[in-house]
Amino acid sequence: MAEITRKWFKEMSVYQIWTRSFCDSNGDGIGDLPGVYSKLDYIKSLGVDAIWFSPIYPTPNADYGYDISDYKNINPEFGTLDDFKMILDGAHERGMRVFMDLVVNHTSDEHEWFKESSKSVDNPYHDYYIWRKGKGNKPPNNWLSVFEGGAWEYNKNLDEYYLHVFAKKQPDLNMDNPKVREEVKSIMRFWLDMGVDGFREDVITFISKAEGLPNGIPLPVATGVEHYKHGPHLDEYLDEFRAVTNEYDCMTVGEGPMTSLKDAVELCSEGPNQKLDMLISFDHMNADCMVTDWIKLPFNLRKLKNTMTKWQKAMYGRGWNCLYIENHDHARIIDRYGSLKYRVQSGKALATMYFLQCGTPFIYQGQEIGMTNISVDHLYEYKDVMTFNNYRLFSGILHLSEKQFLKLSSKVNRENARTPVQWNSGKNAGFTTADEPWFKINENYKEINVEAAEKDENSLLNYYRKLTKFRKENEIVIYGEYNLLYENSKNLFVYERLYEGQRLLVITSFSENPVKFKAPVGYNLSEGELVLQNYDVIDPGKNDFYTKPYEARVYLFK
Ligand code: NOJ
Repeated sequence: MAEITRKWFKEMSVYQIWTRSFCDSNGDGIGDLPGVYSKLDYIKSLGVDAIWFSPIYPTPNADYGYDISDYKNINPEFGTLDDFKMILDGAHERGMRVFMDLVVNHTSDEHEWFKESSKSVDNPYHDYYIWRKGKGNKPPNNWLSVFEGGAWEYNKNLDEYYLHVFAKKQPDLNMDNPKVREEVKSIMRFWLDMGVDGFREDVITFISKAEGLPNGIPLPVATGVEHYKHGPHLDEYLDEFRAVTNEYDCMTVGEGPMTSLKDAVELCSEGPNQKLDMLISFDHMNADCMVTDWIKLPFNLRKLKNTMTKWQKAMYGRGWNCLYIENHDHARIIDRYGSLKYRVQSGKALATMYFLQCGTPFIYQGQEIGMTNISVDHLYEYKDVMTFNNYRLFSGILHLSEKQFLKLSSKVNRENARTPVQWNSGKNAGFTTADEPWFKINENYKEINVEAAEKDENSLLNYYRKLTKFRKENEIVIYGEYNLLYENSKNLFVYERLYEGQRLLVITSFSENPVKFKAPVGYNLSEGELVLQNYDVIDPGKNDFYTKPYEARVYLFK
């Protein structure tokens, strides 16, 4: 069995906050930092050990904070640096760490660097970004952006194009310029010196582009991605950044869309060449879609098991997994992998399934109460650049009407996970006192909200609390080896964890119909303790039974 090292970040659970929709303290309809501060005890009560903030820096909101115009300050819509310091202290006092989002593949076009960069080709900041001459009257290559058609924007004054892999308002930084890397390090130090405990590093695997920026294989979006998804200098640049974080007691989790498992293992492998502590992979989020959430397929449990198991096996004893089933980039999970009819039970099955694997589990705001996706009647109710780009593509290529598009969107759109957190059944779900929240509140808030979940002993919220507690009290959940059982079952996700002579058996059903379960060879359920379950179990020692809809049971064998 592979040796596994102990680290504080392996033992924590993390809560992700997307501030704009978390809690509004000043009645302007937008969530803010004092709102977060007022909920620190609630966050702590979940049993988590850390908070990850999606970007909270000044931004023109072209991509809701992932377009930064000042890296060393706080978005005035959210508050001030002092508000942030209060949270940092408040979190630390409560024994929670705080991680910032480090977005350095691109800035906002309203960042001072970019403004300077656009002034003239001789400007000292010009080379902070990727500017190129066109080819005739065409852009420098055929790359398409992830969000908005072509990846190049023409500047008439300079007669040059700048590269933006995401939206036009998100010009890519030229990481090949050593001055840019020094800026990144200075940003890291600024926050680490303040006391921040690490970073989630946004699309960090995209920061190095292939020499000569060659044409890419034509795709409907992101043409050229093969030339930057793990570019030639990525390792080198990550080493430089790692040297900074090594000076502090902190943690880094990189985001790696399309990063292969092999590359992920290399990036996260412990030892002198380690680049990142963990990597946010997207593979397991494709169990009901193809390549992107928007190309919908029926949910396929075997695909999910297969992918998760590959990552579990490959990382064990080498690197470390980042476990998640929701964040601000994906539609809510219960509508996708679970069942709205069995919202709470399937929410618990999903929670059990991912939380007890080997890795650091992340919970995204609202996931703990089982928030679900919205549906809207008009495109204009949406806010996100990605939605509008997808509308352009789906209405253009597939000729979908607005109505058809909105129907699809209600299942797959990442914006659905960005609706305000539902705190109670009062006005605007207790999110804001304003008449108009910045974004639609899910109509189901009267039923699904924190206050109601607090009162219900069997709520999903209280189940998450049990999970964080159980994980903390049982090292087998943190450090145990993972093996998939029932590999071929289409409806059951069953696995074991093994650690120092103990065994943990995790049984989850992904069906509303009864599924026959028989204890795997070597297991006698009557010898184990049923430690977590989402239904009352009359006879926990019985070795075969039919599952209830989305049943979850966890047995510990000491
Ligand atoms: C990944 C972030 O998670 C996503 O929200 C953002 O749109 C892109 N990176 C661009 O920064």
